[in-house]
Amino acid sequence: MINKNIIYNKNCIKGMPDLPDNSVQMILTDPPYLVNYKDRLGRSVANDMASNSDWLIPAFNEMYRVLENNRYAVVFYGWNEVDKFVNAWRKAGFRIIGHFVFYKKYASNARTVKKHMEYRHECAYLLAKGYPQSCKVLPSVMGWNYTGNEFHPTQKPVDLLLKLINAFCPTGGIVLDSFMGSASTALACIQSEIFDYLGYELDNNYFNIAMSRINEKSNKLRQVVSQESPKHKVIKPHYKYNLQNKKPESKNRRLPPPANDDYFINRAIKMQGVQNG
Ligand SMILES: C[S@@+](CC[C@H](N)C(=O)[O-])C[C@H]1O[C@@H](n2cnc3c(N)ncnc32)[C@H](O)[C@@H]1O
Repeated sequence: MINKNIIYNKNCIKGMPDLPDNSVQMILTDPPYLVNYKDRLGRSVANDMASNSDWLIPAFNEMYRVLENNRYAVVFYGWNEVDKFVNAWRKAGFRIIGHFVFYKKYASNARTVKKHMEYRHECAYLLAKGYPQSCKVLPSVMGWNYTGNEFHPTQKPVDLLLKLINAFCPTGGIVLDSFMGSASTALACIQSEIFDYLGYELDNNYFNIAMSRINEKSNKLRQVVSQESPKHKVIKPHYKYNLQNKKPESKNRRLPPPANDDYFINRAIKMQGVQNG
């Protein structure tokens, strides 16, 4: 059985071999772009060196193996090194189905000297293992809401990830993100309440940030549920009546646990993260 709603604090290349073949229903991931990125706060991304892309092929081989047949993968990538990404996807067996451009109202390189052009888009490929039958059709060009990059230097907008998941993952499916960063993919799944997630994050600092975002999100969800669904708070005992004497069968009968306990225990199990060296 596959563990779901877990982020492993681990190198995905070492972790994914533990997953069974064909065990997730979508891949949505944002690997390092091979650009030696450093933001103005000095934050960088592990495995982002242009000089070392050795991890690309083993990582995508494993993602291909664990993805169910006839399912989609959406993968952000670094356009400067597109040949290396495409090579790794094709070697693994993925077919290229389409390409997304997400346009920004601001330039990513606004603070640096603009030598040639302003970078006003992010991009991702839509890949497939086999021949997926149907999906919600999305436009190839969509808007991008600025996240502020508060939690991660390359943080992705949760609303956009949720759109992609809704379109390309079957209801109730598990979404694998092998490069989880600050857990934006996990938050999109939690927000949906119908998709599960599974992921890896190598960097201890981003892993801890991911865990705290997940906890905060689940607490908020908990508050909304208890405000919106009084049935989760007020549980009236009910008794089975004995038809002959019209009296309750037993006043001491053990009642089932209130719905809110089950709900929150299940949610807590779903939201756990695993720190695994
Ligand atoms: C581009 S960022 C993902 C950001 C994420 N989409 C978000 O919204 O926060 C890539 C992440 O992959 C992590 N990473 C790099 N190599 C890894 C590996 N081999 N296994 C697991 N995580 C890795 C980096 O630490 C980084 O946080």
